[in-house]
Order: sequence, then C-alpha cells, then structure tokens
Amino acid sequence: MNRKLTDPFLPPQRLLLGPGPSPVAPEVLAATAHPTIGHLDPAFIRLMDELKQMLQIIFNTKNDATFTVAGPGSVGMDACVLNMVEAGDKILIARNGVFGMRMSEVASRGGAEVIPVDFEWGTPVTAAAVDAALEQHKGVKFLAFVHAETSTGVLSDAAEITAVARRHGVMTIMDAVTSLGGVPVMIDEWGVDAVYSATQKCLSCPPGLSPVSFSPRALEHIKGRKTKVLSWFLDVTQVMAYWTGEGARAYHHTAPINALYGLHEALRRLLVEGPDNSFARHKMAHRHLVAGLAKLGIEFLVDERFRLPELNAIRIPAGINDAKVRSVLLNEYDIEIGAGLGPLAGKVWRVGLMGEGARIEHVDRFLAALEKAMAAAKAG
Ligand SMILES: Cc1ncc(COP(=O)(O)O)c(C=O)c1O
Repeated sequence: MNRKLTDPFLPPQRLLLGPGPSPVAPEVLAATAHPTIGHLDPAFIRLMDELKQMLQIIFNTKNDATFTVAGPGSVGMDACVLNMVEAGDKILIARNGVFGMRMSEVASRGGAEVIPVDFEWGTPVTAAAVDAALEQHKGVKFLAFVHAETSTGVLSDAAEITAVARRHGVMTIMDAVTSLGGVPVMIDEWGVDAVYSATQKCLSCPPGLSPVSFSPRALEHIKGRKTKVLSWFLDVTQVMAYWTGEGARAYHHTAPINALYGLHEALRRLLVEGPDNSFARHKMAHRHLVAGLAKLGIEFLVDERFRLPELNAIRIPAGINDAKVRSVLLNEYDIEIGAGLGPLAGKVWRVGLMGEGARIEHVDRFLAALEKAMAAAKAG
C-alpha cells in the first residue's frame, strides 16, 4: 500500500459481526456529521435532556442520575466502581469471564478488598453461589457482576442475583455493556444501584460513550463518602451538575458533542422500533444462526438456557485453523468476527449479532462465508 500521510483515511466496508463495535446505521453516522455547536448552547442542553429521558426508558429507570460519561465501556466501569468503593470497602465480585476480572482490577486499584466468586467460563453467575458467599463473608458493602459476559456469550439472571443482594442489604453494581438494547435491562425493578453500558454493542452507535445510571441510594452513599472519588473526571456528583443542573449547568468538561448527536439518533431509532421489538429481532437472528450452524455441525459453548442472543460463542471444529478462518472472513468476505479470549483462545469464535447486526440477511451472509472460509482453512 503506497499511502502518503497526507492521504485521507477511508476505512473498508466491513460487516461487523464480532463482540463490538457493531454495525452503525447510516442515519446515526449522518447525525454525527451535523455541525458542532457549543456544549453549553441551549440547543445542546435540550439534546442532553432528551438523551437522559431516552436512556431512562432504555434502562427502565426513574433515576435522575442517568447520563453518559465520555469514554468507552471501561470508563463507565471506572465511573461506577470508583464512585461507589472507598479504600478498605469489601466488594464481592462475581466473575465468569474477562469483564468480571476487569471489575476486580478496577476495584482493587480503588483500594477495595475484593472477594471474588468465580464461575467456570461459559456458565452464568448463580444467585445461590452469591448467596453462599455473602453468608460466609460479613461486612460486604457491594456486589458487582456482569449481566451479559461478552467473552463467553452468557446471560446471568440479574433479577435473582439482585434479589440476593437486597436480602443481604448489599448495594449492586452491574455491567450492562452488552445487554442494553439486546435483552431487557430493568434497573429499578432489580434495584441496581450503579450500572454502566457502552454505545458500540446493541445500541449500534460508534464507540466512545458510556451510558450510566445511579440510584438515589447510590448518590446518597457517594455524597456521604469519607474520601474524595479517586478520579476527578468521573466524580459523579460533579458530572451531574453538568447533566442535570436545572437552568444553571456548570462547565465540567467539553462534552463529545458529535458523538452525542449520534447516540441521540441511535436511541431515537431504538425507541421508534420499540425495545421489545429490538429484543425479539435479536432472538430471531440468534435462532437463525443456531439453525444454520447446526447444519454446518458447529456447536455452541454455552448451554441453551444461558445463551445471550447478541453474542454467540461457537466451538471451532477440530482441524480448523482459527486465525485462517477469521482472516479469510475479513479479507475475502469483509466480515469481522471475534476470537476467543483467555482460556477460550483458539477454542471458540465469538459471533456478535448486536443492534443493526441482528438481521437475518447478515446471518445468511455470515453462514455462507463461514462455510467457504472453513473449506479454505482445511485445505490450507
Ligand atoms: C461486558 C463488557 N464490559 C466492559 C467492556 C469494556 O468496554 P470498552 O471496550 O468499550 O471499554 C466490554 C467490552 O467489550 C464488555 O463487553
């Protein structure tokens, strides 16, 4: 490739069927190209108010503290964990994949005493194990878990897990990065105290924003902290003054204006479709994939009962070269899928049917390409 630094960058046209980012609708991309305005412009503040209301609907919450933090899902994770925990606090972290592990790392960097409850990768977090751990360890303040583990394609039962936390009087922190928009997320009904998500999964938006929501109880807890939140940028009480300060928004940081235009359009489209229809579309695409893979003799990692429709971890058949298949799919068919992570590296592929990706025609295109890519990988 004979490129000069002064050449414009034009990305290839890929079909994104990996663990995120997901395909972005042209309308969302077009929205991000609207003229930039000031971050305290009354027109922009109107957009922020609408975004907040739309996020409250998608999260199923009345939480006033519902907004986005500027940064990908990991920034939302930092925001939730570091606002809630103080040095010395005990936090129980249920870990059944990469992102539970990452939460442990964030909490321990915040000085918390992490009590891990580990599950085999590919299986869900169980309320029974969380209950037993909370019985065993006294003085635990928080329970953190990942609703939809993107590294394994497992959905855990948030209603049961949060019910256990409530019974023990423990506050909850939930990762909804891959669940939001793909399966129901019921923040108020489940009594989740701090939740974060990301835009590049089932919301079908470019990466770079993290929707978050904090319950009134969480806010009270954060306001009563003995020590300052470790991160100035992510201190929720200060970010709130920018997102919700009625009539008197204070400058906090320069919001990513155009990215927020994009999120507005993505959420507007989700509301027009209807969240329930979006969930049904994800399920339908998933079932179509299951049927097509069965014909190719490919099996799923996860038991049917716990499968996440939007992230399918499928076993790489014996004798098939993992990297070769992914490279043929990308370079010859313009389809991206994900590799396995950690103990699942080389054992599974991760096929994301997220947001705009969750369509029958995309599944058909993937199945046809996969069959050819596997034949090529066998031959080579
Ligand atoms: C469940 C989960 N949590 C957190 C993250 C981190 O998000 P990001 O990569 O946007 O920082 C991801 C990313 O894939 C994820 O899938």
